[in-house]
Amino acid sequence: MAEYLSTNKKKITAPHFFEMKNSGEKISWLTAYDFTTATIVDQAGVDAILIGDSASNVMLGNQTTLPITVEEMIFHARAVARAVKHALVVCDMPFGSYQVSEEEGVRNAIRIMKETDVDAVKLEGGEEIAHMVKRIVDAGIPVCGHLGLTPQSVHKFGGYGLRAKEEAEAAKLMADAKALEEAGCFCIVLEKVPAKLAEEVTKAVSCATIGIGAGNKTDGQVLVYADMLGMNKGFKPKFLRQYANLYEIMTDAIGRYVQDVKSSDFPNESESY
Ligand code: KIV
Repeated sequence: MAEYLSTNKKKITAPHFFEMKNSGEKISWLTAYDFTTATIVDQAGVDAILIGDSASNVMLGNQTTLPITVEEMIFHARAVARAVKHALVVCDMPFGSYQVSEEEGVRNAIRIMKETDVDAVKLEGGEEIAHMVKRIVDAGIPVCGHLGLTPQSVHKFGGYGLRAKEEAEAAKLMADAKALEEAGCFCIVLEKVPAKLAEEVTKAVSCATIGIGAGNKTDGQVLVYADMLGMNKGFKPKFLRQYANLYEIMTDAIGRYVQDVKSSDFPNESESY
């Protein structure tokens, strides 16, 4: 049996990320939001699975990540955690769950950990949330940061464009990364920033950096599974490599099923009791 299919492969933990960074082993992440997908993603051998608040778009059809609630994230995270044997499982803290106060942020992080069986949480933001990150880490919860394009702030940015092109924003991002490292983050997602800046941040911090649209010098990469499998027709940003066209494959399969039902070809004798 292929090694990645074995069920006794060791579970990845947050401290492994430091080892992987230091040994130069690249870290692979994908999102998942349900049991069946998480089972496939885990068995295919990824190092980490993110229950991203992109579930708001991918699973629930919202325009942004803002509407998804703590309860909805917990619903998805529980299904994913039930499936995963090997990968580290990280759950996004949704918009509104940590912006009001440090107390509320810590309480929501603890709630997510207690109710889902995930291994870590992820928050968007830099220096302004570093105090809260430290409190969550002090509570024993591994925290992943998220800088650059932070979709929970889409209305502040006015869109989903490349971040930190200008010197001042790049300097702020570097300071934010150091503040998150200092606060105890075990890794930081860098979304849609220039590759050169992502490389500099990667060299400057001791925790792992995970890029999405941030070039290939980060310690790892993350993609939304539905995007890399080509499930969203017409969604093809520059940073995305599409590994399959499931939109076409699924549409074709479902179309043939419909035809077979209409023509009474399905079920046939061997498919009947
Ligand atoms: O919500 C999400 O899927 C994410 C990744 C794009 C990093 O935050």
